[in-house]
Amino acid sequence: MRWSLPLLAIGLALYVSCQGAPESVNSSSPLYVGDVVCQSCHADISRAYASTWKAHSLLPITPDIERIEDFTQPAVYDPHLNLFYRAVWEDNSLVLYEYRRRGQDTIYLRKERLDFVIGSGHQTRSYLLWRNRFLYEAPLTWYALPRKWDLSPGYAEGRNSRFSREIQPSCLACHASGWVPIPWTYNRYEAVGGPLGCESCHGPGSLHVKNPSDSAYHWSRWHPLRQMDVCSRCHLEGIAVEKRSGWRPGDTLASYWAIFLPERPELGRFGIASHVERLLRSACYQKGGATCSSCHNPHPLKPVPSYEARCLSCHTKGCSNPTHPTTQCITCHMPKGESSDIPHTRFTDHYIRVVRSSAPSPPVFQPRLLCATEPAPDSALVGEAYLQWYSEENPAPWVLQEAVRILAHHGLPKAQAKASLLKGQPQAGLLAAEKALGQDTTLQLLELYSYLLEMSGQFDKALKTWAELARRAPAYPEALFRWVVLAYQLKRLSAGEAYERFQVLLREQPWNPQFHYNAAVVAGALGRLGEAKAHLQAALRYDPDYKLAAEALNRLP
Ligand code: HEC
Ligand code: HEC
Ligand code: HEC
Ligand code: HEC
Ligand code: HEC
Ligand code: HEC
Ligand code: HEC
Repeated sequence: MRWSLPLLAIGLALYVSCQGAPESVNSSSPLYVGDVVCQSCHADISRAYASTWKAHSLLPITPDIERIEDFTQPAVYDPHLNLFYRAVWEDNSLVLYEYRRRGQDTIYLRKERLDFVIGSGHQTRSYLLWRNRFLYEAPLTWYALPRKWDLSPGYAEGRNSRFSREIQPSCLACHASGWVPIPWTYNRYEAVGGPLGCESCHGPGSLHVKNPSDSAYHWSRWHPLRQMDVCSRCHLEGIAVEKRSGWRPGDTLASYWAIFLPERPELGRFGIASHVERLLRSACYQKGGATCSSCHNPHPLKPVPSYEARCLSCHTKGCSNPTHPTTQCITCHMPKGESSDIPHTRFTDHYIRVVRSSAPSPPVFQPRLLCATEPAPDSALVGEAYLQWYSEENPAPWVLQEAVRILAHHGLPKAQAKASLLKGQPQAGLLAAEKALGQDTTLQLLELYSYLLEMSGQFDKALKTWAELARRAPAYPEALFRWVVLAYQLKRLSAGEAYERFQVLLREQPWNPQFHYNAAVVAGALGRLGEAKAHLQAALRYDPDYKLAAEALNRLP
């Protein structure tokens, strides 16, 4: 049987520190107090806010949650994995069935309870699983406009990661409030929290509550660009490279984050789909001072005027051209981008202008990344952005090459180390990682370093770093797992000892097919064939296409 497992580059996803992280809060920094507190003094605004999309952005699934979905529709089929999906309410829980059929027979069936909805459901509603405090996305999503079920955004065309897509803090930072991440893991939470609240735009409110007239908290006194920074923090959905942690509403976003988007030639030279960046080009902003809140009110106390009425509130004079229309302004002056089922790509062009038809732009196969938060970002940031783009969204070889090219001269050691790992050059990676360890000992870097050591054959050292990581990151079972596998391979751990460790790991993640498979292998070595068989069957219950497990099961007597 094969011992060493393939390197798991997916474990290296970026850990974004966030509002919930306790780091570096000094005593004079305001703290989050929660919407209930705001409600006591701002009751009318709180009522108005309660009916907005944001106030439903993340909800626990309870029997009385609004059932916007049509549960009578047929199951969704993924032809790439040959799997069906269907969500049903059963005994007051919403559950998702994943199954495979041969003729009339169901030859594989898995059932998972769904714990949270993410997305208010105006466009889409997706679902999260919360298991032993680990948070994952479910593969099925409800698409509200066409009223149909389908695979979740990003899961089609052979990219269905089933129940294993980790929900990291970066995702909750844009969609939720009140969540409490467990340190030294990627997707584990003490609490998942609820929908976005007042403080997601106004910032932590503890000081304001004590002293309401303190002007620091007053939105209206912030510079319009700082106001728009608040919206950009979430609505600029691009590749976000963190410069330093701790951004709060009122701060300059560009001092904390550099956010990149791929160029969109149909939007003109240097065109990217960013509401802020587009609006800033408009005369309505440059000459009229229009900001996001000129047209969008997060908690309107009066009936909301139409967009036309808002245009006409400034454009009162009428047009010199008598044939110019007097209604439907936005259809011509703020055209929509290609419609798409994927919520993150819906886009109304906020560069308000007379749109002239021009020659269609040629298709671009290698769109550049452009920075939406600053005109001339440091090359190190650009290199990191390409690297992140490659590992999270666009695994085209040229993207990695571009990252490596830029990072070679300008990169920070940590990014260089990651690039080397992805390129399969562990020696260069080790040099960079060792340099980086001088300033930084995060989970991500220690993990990267350990993988690089393994890859370059320095097993004793790797064993030490995995042990160190397992000690520091007890909530991250992968660290202990790598240590056990390596220690057993190097014969530092007997089969019996390894088996015990796998039992510990399986208590943490009973759904992990790799843990089951490896437990089966050592059980086999111990001659405990019954247990080996049970583990292999469990591995296949969670991953019906786990080839190694299926082969091993066939070989068992
Ligand atoms: C103890 C009562 C009280 C509580 C609790 C309270 N506020 Fe206020 N808030 C006020 C008062 C009073 C003002 C007006 C102060 C002024 O204009 O000098 C105010 C002003 C504001 C403003 C300023 C508007 C502007 O730009 O001029 C914002 C924003 C605000 N509150 C948001 C919140 C949020 C969010 C919370 C919850 C975190 C909250 N408040 C909790 C009493 C309260
Ligand atoms: C940078 C912030 C950001 C991140 C990160 C992000 N989102 Fe979003 N997401 C948004 C915004 C903003 C919208 C609303 C989009 C719009 O209407 O233009 C949205 C929309 C959605 C919707 C549709 C909501 C509706 O209106 O019906 C879903 C579902 C969703 N996101 C899920 C996710 C999940 C799951 C993740 C993490 C894996 C994620 N998003 C990561 C900002 C973000
Ligand atoms: C999406 C961001 C966002 C959220 C969430 C949000 N606000 Fe506001 N808030 C704003 C903006 C923008 C303004 C300024 C509105 C304007 O200029 O017309 C504002 C203004 C205010 C004001 C000043 C009075 C007013 O109406 O102009 C208060 C008070 C306030 N918000 C309280 C709250 C409370 C309480 C909550 C939660 C129930 C909340 N806000 C949630 C963005 C937000
Ligand atoms: C903390 C993240 C966050 C911030 C800050 C934020 N938004 Fe949003 N916004 C979202 C998400 C997420 C959604 C989609 C919610 C859903 O449908 O589940 C959304 C939805 C919207 C929508 C479409 C739905 C609607 O209610 O009409 C608009 C418009 C919008 N936001 C404008 C703004 C503006 C303007 C600001 C700044 C004043 C802002 N947002 C600040 C996350 C954010
Ligand atoms: C001059 C008016 C105007 C201003 C200013 C404005 N918007 Fe919009 N916004 C619109 C219109 C119109 C739509 C399309 C609404 C629809 O189709 O229902 C829209 C839609 C949106 C959406 C929904 C997703 C999409 O692209 O269709 C978001 C998010 C949004 N705006 C964010 C912002 C942010 C952030 C700002 C500030 C940078 C801003 N808007 C400034 C008019 C405006
Ligand atoms: C806050 C005020 C304000 C709002 C709201 C506003 N505009 Fe403008 N807009 C202006 C000003 C000021 C100019 C510049 C006029 C000039 O140069 O004489 C302008 C310019 C324009 C132009 C000409 C642009 C160019 O490049 O020549 C168009 C088209 C336009 N606006 C359409 C709209 C539409 C459509 C809306 C509503 C979706 C809107 N505006 C909302 C203030 C505003
Ligand atoms: C059918 C498309 C269409 C609609 C709808 C439309 N416009 Fe225009 N608009 C144009 C075109 C084309 C021009 C430039 C040629 C012209 O002046 O007629 C223009 C020019 C403008 C200008 C620049 C005016 C100037 O004198 O230079 C403004 C401001 C403007 N529109 C605002 C609006 C507003 C506000 C609305 C809604 C009340 C609106 N438009 C509706 C197509 C449209």
